[in-house]
Amino acid sequence: MVLNAAIDGFNVQPDTIILAAKLGLLSGNDFATFNLDGLTLLTLPSHATMRPLEISNLPFNETTFSTLANANPGVDYYNTTSAGQVQRDRLADSIAINPNVTNTLKEFNFRSGASGLYLSVMGDPLTDVAPKKHIFFRRERMPIEEGWKRSAIPITSETMAPLVGDIMAASNWTPTQACEPIVLGPGIIL
Ligand SMILES: *[C@@H]1O[C@H](CO)[C@@H](O)[C@H](O)[C@H]1NC(C)=O
Ligand SMILES: *[C@@H]1O[C@H](CO)[C@@H](O)[C@H](O)[C@H]1NC(C)=O
Ligand SMILES: *[C@@H]1O[C@H](CO)[C@@H](O)[C@H](O)[C@H]1NC(C)=O
Repeated sequence: MVLNAAIDGFNVQPDTIILAAKLGLLSGNDFATFNLDGLTLLTLPSHATMRPLEISNLPFNETTFSTLANANPGVDYYNTTSAGQVQRDRLADSIAINPNVTNTLKEFNFRSGASGLYLSVMGDPLTDVAPKKHIFFRRERMPIEEGWKRSAIPITSETMAPLVGDIMAASNWTPTQACEPIVLGPGIIL
């Protein structure tokens, strides 16, 4: 259902989000379904020390969001440079609050993929820019009134790869811990 909804709603093809969907299944005890309470556990602020019950009611935090909201000043769009800088600044904040925050290749890959996805879904998967007025995080609704339309171009791992690479480069990232090797499939290890 999730994979089909991603195609119908956003033209995001399964190869782009299959890994996130599988992780979603790991967020709860049921092997075939997941829900928002479980997913919330995957989207904690990286320095969170709260218990799950408190986390499930985590409000939108304007201060946290301001890093993204204020990115790419002077123009009306976000791009791979600003997305990378937002990642860099948010991580620096997290490390300032908790120097032991988990910061490995795994988190870096996921957040860079997530950044690539918002630029692709809210903007254009080939030009890699998203109009600021389309960014939906604050309103928590699709920006249809603001002129957003479903991408006509399928968003695939092929369209995502160059964009995510640019975001990674712009984020000037260094790990502060190592992680276990990341197994993406049989014989495919990062
Ligand atoms: C929002 O985040 C900031 C920075 O991480 C924190 O200082 C503040 O307490 C948070 N506000 C709320 C309402 O949780
Ligand atoms: C992103 O936008 C900024 C501001 O216009 C610009 O300086 C930067 O070069 C752009 N990045 C890319 C990859 O085009
Ligand atoms: C970070 O980890 C070290 C070593 O385990 C510990 O001594 C220190 O208190 C931790 N710092 C924070 C802010 O949790």
